[in-house]
Amino acid sequence: MTIIVTGSAGFIGSCYVRQHVGSSDEPVISLDALTYAGHLSTLLPVMDKPSHTFVHGNIGDKGLVSKLLAEHKPRAILNFAAESHVDRSILGPEEFIQTNVLGTFRLLECAREYWQGLEGEAKANFRFLHVSTDEVYGTLGKDDAPFAEDNKYEPNSPYSASKAASDHLVRAWHHTYGLPVLTTNCSNNYGPYHFPEKLIPLVIMNALNGKPLPIYGDGQQIRDWLYVEDHTRAIRRVLEGGRLGETYNIGGWNEKANLDIVNTICSILDDLQPKADGSSYASQITFVKDRPGHDRRYAIDARKIERELGWKPEETFETGIRKTVEWYLTNQQWATQVTEKGYREWLEKQYG
Ligand code: NAD
Ligand code: DAU
Repeated sequence: MTIIVTGSAGFIGSCYVRQHVGSSDEPVISLDALTYAGHLSTLLPVMDKPSHTFVHGNIGDKGLVSKLLAEHKPRAILNFAAESHVDRSILGPEEFIQTNVLGTFRLLECAREYWQGLEGEAKANFRFLHVSTDEVYGTLGKDDAPFAEDNKYEPNSPYSASKAASDHLVRAWHHTYGLPVLTTNCSNNYGPYHFPEKLIPLVIMNALNGKPLPIYGDGQQIRDWLYVEDHTRAIRRVLEGGRLGETYNIGGWNEKANLDIVNTICSILDDLQPKADGSSYASQITFVKDRPGHDRRYAIDARKIERELGWKPEETFETGIRKTVEWYLTNQQWATQVTEKGYREWLEKQYG
């Protein structure tokens, strides 16, 4: 058996591949376009493993994807590939439509053609697992119930709208053509190999480099944080036992305001690597202009995946965030190296 993992050189896709290759001999074909967010260094721990093959390519390249399917006859495709940063989608939405909508559409078409040509058990066992986000549900008020799977879709950013579109395509390919699909909608992830444009790694790296720690608006926006390895463990459960055509929400039961997250990171750094002048890293906190259309609160009701598939997060926020800060302290070179291409221009555009 073989699986194909797209977006495998990014933050979550690479975690999935490292976990899968580390715990099974099943061949993994990992496909990634290596955009600014994709780096082979995330796959270094599995690059020399005989069960792992990396392919540089685009999910929208039907010729390449069809060839991979015909050659490797996978039992599943897991689609992590996406443009994933909300702020980038606000400044330049086109790439989000190209990859998240058109790319997913083309991948689905290749999967459909391949699956329709299968027979017997291979056909019955094939799965297309689409990795999506809680942002498709829009925003919550402070007393609203967390997002459940039957919440309506109300995406508010170009990013979440493009992910919502991809989720709808996946749903339609199941309903119309019978393609055996599964969709997961997860909350905010954090952990090693997170590209330092996202809040947690950006704050860690800026703190260590003596730069401002930018907080959008009043910093009271709430996210539900989940350690990345818990997310990839959940995806494995869904792949192995999820009901066809179903969606599964994944979250950490761990709502925190952005300002609290940043203060927590600062106090861990104060403890692990105190500043020479004795001041706290929190003195670098700077309030900056808010993100346009900024969603106020996300929270996930993760009872369905627990009830049906027995998944629960293993990491608490306290253990996960400490591990994450420690990882960045020992892997500062990784963060510096991945931010070499075009990153300075991005910071200039976004933060002035
Ligand atoms: P990421 O930006 O770190 O990685 C995305 C990867 O996809 C990169 O390696 C990039 O090179 C690759 N890619 C982009 N366009 C491609 C294309 N056209 N063809 C092939 N590869 C392409 O993103 P991430 O944080 O790892 O997110 C992975 C998936 O999980 C995304 O679908 C995202 O929407 C979803 N998600 C992310 C989070 C989160 O907190 N990061 C939470 C829930 C869901
Ligand atoms: O909810 C899941 C989503 O989480 C994923 O689908 C996205 O791919 C992922 O990027 C993430 O989106 P967010 O926009 O929530 O993540 P980000 O790290 O960009 O921001 C987290 C919060 O921190 C958000 O409220 C914006 C705020 N923020 C972010 C940055 C980069 C700041 O206050 N300052 C910053 O400099």
